[in-house]
Amino acid sequence: MTEHETIPLAGVIGWPIAHSLSPKVHGHWLARYGLAGAYVPLGVREGDFGSALAALPKLGFVGANVTMPHKERAFALADTRSDIATRLGAANTLVFDPGQGIMADNTDGFGFIENLRERVPGWNAGAGPVTVLGAGGAARAVIVALIEAGVPELRLLNRTRSRAEALRDGIAPSVSVLDWSEAENALAGAALVVNATSMGMAGGPDMALTLHELGPDAVATDIVYARGETPFLTAAKSRGARVVDGFGMLLHQARPGFERWFGRAPEVDDALRAAVLT
Ligand code: ATR
Repeated sequence: MTEHETIPLAGVIGWPIAHSLSPKVHGHWLARYGLAGAYVPLGVREGDFGSALAALPKLGFVGANVTMPHKERAFALADTRSDIATRLGAANTLVFDPGQGIMADNTDGFGFIENLRERVPGWNAGAGPVTVLGAGGAARAVIVALIEAGVPELRLLNRTRSRAEALRDGIAPSVSVLDWSEAENALAGAALVVNATSMGMAGGPDMALTLHELGPDAVATDIVYARGETPFLTAAKSRGARVVDGFGMLLHQARPGFERWFGRAPEVDDALRAAVLT
């Protein structure tokens, strides 16, 4: 086989990996655009990540997505890193370049903002304060992306306050950390409220907030995808707020990797949504 006949391979590395929707996303785009290539789930245990990663370029892989529990290790092992990956200390998208080695990027924040822009036409980061509930791994990229997008005020609340303070001190000095007991009040006047907690997720704790201070002009969004409407979004809707689920974030974060690996900027549309949900 000559170099030109090599089929570009990519995949998602994680453990566990069976639940990942990324193979469906990229598989749909490859078929839709008639591109040569394949995208596969790569179940790799924590201790095997370094050796597995080193082998991929030799096997014909042009890059990979990285998910739990490998995002920080992928960042550490890369040869070059984007500014946003450096700020977050975590990578979700890798490009294997024959000249530059392993290049690490993080597209989670991009996916979050693009999803909002798609689902709420005219969404404007400057419209008002943003309240973020939760300070786990999923919250980090979103908070940095919102600050970069120009939100005027970001209120961060987490059940364990010290985690919110550590997040602020590490990557987002401009956020205001409030106490979890203030969660309802912190919704007053918010233009956007982001649920980055596991509240209301399948298998997670019950939704403990009523959102009675949420205004009808607000937008409410979950950043973790769950099939069906989450109790958080149901509560927000009952307050008259516009709601955006977390599914589109998953779809949009996949775009930069696909373009880099397979050479075509893909679209997020209803056909993709239907293909991924079946
Ligand atoms: P991830 O990295 O996916 O965000 P995580 O680190 O386990 O996952 O974070 C889950 C988030 O949900 C955290 O913000 C967590 O709060 P703590 O830091 O206090 O654990 C939040 N969370 C989990 N159960 C909760 C509950 N019953 N009420 C409010 N927040 C909760």
